Amino acid sequence: MYLKKLYIETYGCQMNVADSEVVSAILQKENYIFTDKPEDADLILINTCSIRDNAEIRVKGRLENLRVHKKNNKNLKIGVLGCMAERIKDKILEDEPAVDMVVGPDAYRDLPKLLEVVSGGTKGVNTLLSLEETYADITPVRLDENNVSAFVSIMRGCNNLCSYCVVPYTRGRERSRDPETIIQEVEDLIQKGYKEVTLLGQNVNSYHWKDDNTDFPDLLERVSLLSTSIRVRYSTSHPKDLSDKLVKIMSKHKNICKSVHLPIQSGSNIVLEKMKRRYTRESYLQKISAIRKAMPDVSISTDIITGFCGETEEDHRNTLSLMQEVGYDFSYMFKYSERPGTFASKNFEDDVPEEIKTRRLNEIIELQNRLSLESKQKDIGEVYEVLIEGISKKSSSELFGRTSQNKVVVFPKMHFQTGDYAFVKITDCTSATLKGIAV
Ligand code: SAH
Ligand code: SF4
Ligand code: F3S
Repeated sequence: MYLKKLYIETYGCQMNVADSEVVSAILQKENYIFTDKPEDADLILINTCSIRDNAEIRVKGRLENLRVHKKNNKNLKIGVLGCMAERIKDKILEDEPAVDMVVGPDAYRDLPKLLEVVSGGTKGVNTLLSLEETYADITPVRLDENNVSAFVSIMRGCNNLCSYCVVPYTRGRERSRDPETIIQEVEDLIQKGYKEVTLLGQNVNSYHWKDDNTDFPDLLERVSLLSTSIRVRYSTSHPKDLSDKLVKIMSKHKNICKSVHLPIQSGSNIVLEKMKRRYTRESYLQKISAIRKAMPDVSISTDIITGFCGETEEDHRNTLSLMQEVGYDFSYMFKYSERPGTFASKNFEDDVPEEIKTRRLNEIIELQNRLSLESKQKDIGEVYEVLIEGISKKSSSELFGRTSQNKVVVFPKMHFQTGDYAFVKITDCTSATLKGIAV
């Protein structure tokens, strides 16, 4: 039997990474094997992101590069998956004639059928969103070869409709996955030797399974109790929904990582209101202090958008002062990018000039670099338990891994191996990495 070769490339967030693993599982059943060389492939799939305009521009450029492979392989098919497929739908086929297939995030079960259509020379499109699809029964094929940490998708979609955000349109309504299937998937990962799972959703705090009334803290606790030798992380929390119950469960179990990613987006109440985030600077800061009180060693990271519609210098200074006040250990920082169809694009003007967005972003990045360095300097002299993820990219005699706080640590290899836990004394740092020695 001829095994067809699949090359898959993933853009965007961790949810997309998890989805590519579901897609791989579906196609493995159709006798596809994986290749990391697009020139060898019979099928090239690009799992795309629409979050900012530059994410889409990158994908368009990549498609232009990939279509050359059709010259050497007349049977090659190219498919666009994910959020951009959902957002632009069959218009992709007009813009890029080399694309054979466009498949939205809820339509991956339809891939075998679409591939049949496509093999006959017709274009295949399915961008239907679903109210129920969670791919609960599909065991993802893990594409990341480290075999230490894995993503487990616990819900899909988002109902929050933050005014700037395209996700509710590309991913559809929020729905939770049956907890029994989540537990099964994690048990299976433990059996296979995985040491860390990250539970994924756009807003994990609103996870809810009606049948037995499981909420997110319940689920997190159940997963953490499966084995004390695995670490549990999750992403992402929405500040408006982060509950005291979650904080309590996190502090109760040692193997739930002491790291909270809590996107603030802006430090100005006026901007937060326009963003429809449904919390204030003050209520956010209260949550941060409750988290710190319960878990003094916790690390806190965030997402920030600069240059949102109508953002003034004062709003911007409020973002800087909030960053300072929280003392973030890490941040993802972005310039606002207007997304067609969102509430903001329909109702507000994208009126902060590009050069001001750039200047504000640079100020935010500069401040974060300082905060990141301070956060790491505080760790010097301390000993942390590190889960080893692999060999350091810079030196083959060193390993790298993460602390519970999600900080990267590099240290000499000695007798340790990927997947081991090591206690490492921190001796030095940069703003990005801790350095140390195993004790
Ligand atoms: N569900 C997650 C975030 C998903 S998108 C949450 O709410 O936390 C990841 C980040 O991209 C967001 O937190 C936001 O900071 C950024 N983002 C989303 N839409 C954006 C836009 N239109 N322009 C710039 N950044 C955006
Ligand atoms: Fe987008 Fe807001 Fe949903 Fe996050 S919570 S995915 S920012 S709409
Ligand atoms: Fe991008 Fe879609 Fe994720 S827009 S950030 S890939 S949910």
